[in-house]
Amino acid sequence: MAHPHDPPAATENAERLGGPLVVLTDVNKHFGELHVLKDIDMTVRRGEVVVVIGPSGSGKSTLCRAINRLEPIDSGTISIDGKELPAEGKDLARLRADVGMVFQSFNLFAHKTILENVTLGPTKVRGLKGHEAKKQAMDLLERVGVANQAGKHPAQLSGGQQQRVAIARALAMRPKVMLFDEPTSALDPEMITEVLDVMTSLAREGMTMIVVTHEMGFARKAADRVIFMDAGQIVEEATPEEFFTNPRSERAKDFLSKLLSH
Ligand SMILES: Nc1ncnc2c1ncn2[C@@H]1O[C@H](COP(=O)(O)OP(=O)(O)OP(=O)(O)O)[C@@H](O)[C@H]1O
Ligand SMILES: [Mg+2]
Repeated sequence: MAHPHDPPAATENAERLGGPLVVLTDVNKHFGELHVLKDIDMTVRRGEVVVVIGPSGSGKSTLCRAINRLEPIDSGTISIDGKELPAEGKDLARLRADVGMVFQSFNLFAHKTILENVTLGPTKVRGLKGHEAKKQAMDLLERVGVANQAGKHPAQLSGGQQQRVAIARALAMRPKVMLFDEPTSALDPEMITEVLDVMTSLAREGMTMIVVTHEMGFARKAADRVIFMDAGQIVEEATPEEFFTNPRSERAKDFLSKLLSH
C-alpha cells in the first residue's frame, strides 16, 4: 500500500526529474513548548517544483528556514545534494550558498543600487571578478525584466520590481535549489502576476524549487507536487490537480474551502 506521504506516481515526470536533491528525514523542531515541525520526511528531486500550502502557523516558514539552517532543528537530518547540513561553520556557509531564498518582504540592501544588490554576493562569497559579476547581474536583471532599473535604489522600484530583483539576487549565487516563502503575499494584485511569471519560467527552465504560496494558479501551472501542512505535520501530498480538485484529508478540505471563499 502506498504510504500517505509518498510522492504521487507522476510517470510523466519520471524522465524530467533527477535524483534526490533536498532530503529531510524525521525532522523535529520546537519553539519552547510548541512543536512546530513534527517528524517531517520530505524529498525534493532535482528539477522538481514543490508548492507548500497550509494554514497560518502550520510551520511553512519554519520548514524553509530549517532547510536553509536559518533555524536550528532539534532532531533529524537535512541534506542538500547528498551532503548533510552541518549546524555551523565554513561548510554551512558553502552549503547555504546552494540554497537561494526569497522572502515575503523584499529585504534588498536599501543603500545599494539594484546592480550592486545582485553583484555583492557573487563577488564576496563566490569569488567572481567585478566585471564577471556585473555581466551576470545584468543578464539576470534582463531575465526578470528590470535591467533598465539597474542604477536605481530599491526604494525607487515598485514592490513587484523589488521582488524580481530579489529573485535575480538569489539566482546570482547559482543555487541548486530556490526557496520562496510567500513571495507575492505583500504585493498589490497587479504586481503578483509579474513575479509569478518569473517564477513559472524559472520552473520551466528546470530550477528545483520549494515554494510556499497560496497562489493556486501558480501551483496548477508550475508545481509537480503540492504538500499540505497543518500543525507542523505534512498531512497530504498530491499533484496540484489531485490536491485542488479532490483533497483527501478533512483538514485540507476545510483549508481549501476557506481559501476559495476569500
Ligand atoms: N522565533 C519564533 N519563536 C517562537 N515561536 C515561533 C517563532 N517562529 C515561529 N514560531 C511559531 O511557530 C509556529 C509556526 O510558525 P511559521 O512561521 O513556521 O508558520 P507559517 O506556516 O509560516 O505561518 P504563516 O502562514 O502565518 O506565515 C507558529 O505557531 C509560530 O507562532
Ligand atoms: Mg510563514
